[in-house]
Amino acid sequence: MKRYEKLAQDIESTIRRGVFRPGERIPSIRQTAQNHHLSITTVVRAYVLLESRGLIESRPQSGYFVRVHPIETTSKEIPELVPSKPIATSAHVDVSRLVLSTLRSIGVDEAIPLGSPYPDPKLFPFERINRYAYAIARRKTQWGVTDELPPGNPELIRQIARRYLENGIPIDPNEVVVTVGATEAINLCLQAVGKPGDTVAVESPTFYAMLHAIERMGMKAIEIATHPRDGIDIDALALVLNRRRVAACMVMPNFQNPLGFQMSDDNKRALVRLAERHDLPIIENDVYNELYFGDAHPTALKSYDTKGLVLHCASFSKSLTSAYHIGWALPGRYRDQVEKLKFLNTLTTPSIPQLAIAEYLEHDGYEHHLRHVRKLYAQQANLMRATVMRFFPEGTRTSQPTGGYVLWVELPPQIDSMQLYQLALQKRITIGPGTMFSAANSYRNFIRLNYSYAWTPEIEKALITIGKLASSLM
Ligand SMILES: Cc1ncc(COP(=O)(O)O)c(C=O)c1O
Repeated sequence: MKRYEKLAQDIESTIRRGVFRPGERIPSIRQTAQNHHLSITTVVRAYVLLESRGLIESRPQSGYFVRVHPIETTSKEIPELVPSKPIATSAHVDVSRLVLSTLRSIGVDEAIPLGSPYPDPKLFPFERINRYAYAIARRKTQWGVTDELPPGNPELIRQIARRYLENGIPIDPNEVVVTVGATEAINLCLQAVGKPGDTVAVESPTFYAMLHAIERMGMKAIEIATHPRDGIDIDALALVLNRRRVAACMVMPNFQNPLGFQMSDDNKRALVRLAERHDLPIIENDVYNELYFGDAHPTALKSYDTKGLVLHCASFSKSLTSAYHIGWALPGRYRDQVEKLKFLNTLTTPSIPQLAIAEYLEHDGYEHHLRHVRKLYAQQANLMRATVMRFFPEGTRTSQPTGGYVLWVELPPQIDSMQLYQLALQKRITIGPGTMFSAANSYRNFIRLNYSYAWTPEIEKALITIGKLASSLM
């Protein structure tokens, strides 16, 4: 047992024995470090662990307190999700209307945004990036559209390439095409590898931006069984590839939305090898790559690609700011088509956001910011899972995210998540209904919850309300 785990265990047992009562303040980090002859870092880790177990809570400027209602996380086994088993037939995709109308209502003022696809904007270093943007706008008064013709601003491209290198993924800067968010990157990559009427393999469930890209192209989707911890079932995909022509496969190997898993390196390698055997382009959505909870930065499918078949898409929307909507593609052997399509699609990506992000990356504290949010998301994921398991109806299961900021919740089969969504909306709480994540209208009794928002009594109350509403639908 590590030192911080031992300390957490000791404090937990003093709380359980009533030495510290609910609502009481426990010794400060400094005091505990002195009393136990431990480093501040060790104590901080112990307190974070206790917080994630729902036993203590931090109150700004006041210290750490025993929670009045401890959340049971340790003793109760949280049931795991089972792998999906979609019917492997290709289907026309028509989910955008549903997604647009739910996203519109998710944006309503003052609603508790558990259904939001974006992280809590308060966590973004928005003011700092804006300062660079103002300075750039003041400095440069003459703008021409030709300044940023595809592939995009060279300084931003240099910074993106540096970031990949720091994360252990060397890339060729000449491969980068800057886009309007990952959304445009995904759309252009799909357009580069297929045509209307083609079939595209996707994970099941899958993030709706992938389905939108398929819908926009008039293609069909075939949903492949996906394991909640291991990712897309490579054998099931191989079977489909042996039987029919598939134009591309779209996956999210790191912290998949909505399942939250990280594919192992072995599985990533196996998927790329399978693609190579079938000459199958893979569109890799890696927008959560920076948001890992573990110690090591995850690899990407791109790292294993030797034939230029992986079209890797990412953006700063989840890690830095969604307001500037800057993304990019590393399209492998399809780079020239993607660059041309980018030009045909929107000509350029706006200049100031590209330059402001480039300057932020060069001069500011991206890594520091990321370390902060990763820690927070990991704690809040635990708190949300524990709260869901405590207050949702018997039979509920949740994902076990290893990064990112969304939790996938399976409710008992009688519950219709669209109905739950409507009821929750009346209470000014939003959730993501499960049907948004399938072309086949599956996952009726699933919801996606966002845990990036600061853990407050309001969030806890909102979850308890959803739990009650779900019970009322049984
Ligand atoms: C998993 C995932 N992929 C792609 C996107 C789209 O990214 P962007 O906002 O950069 O276009 C989102 C946004 O919510 C997302 O959550």
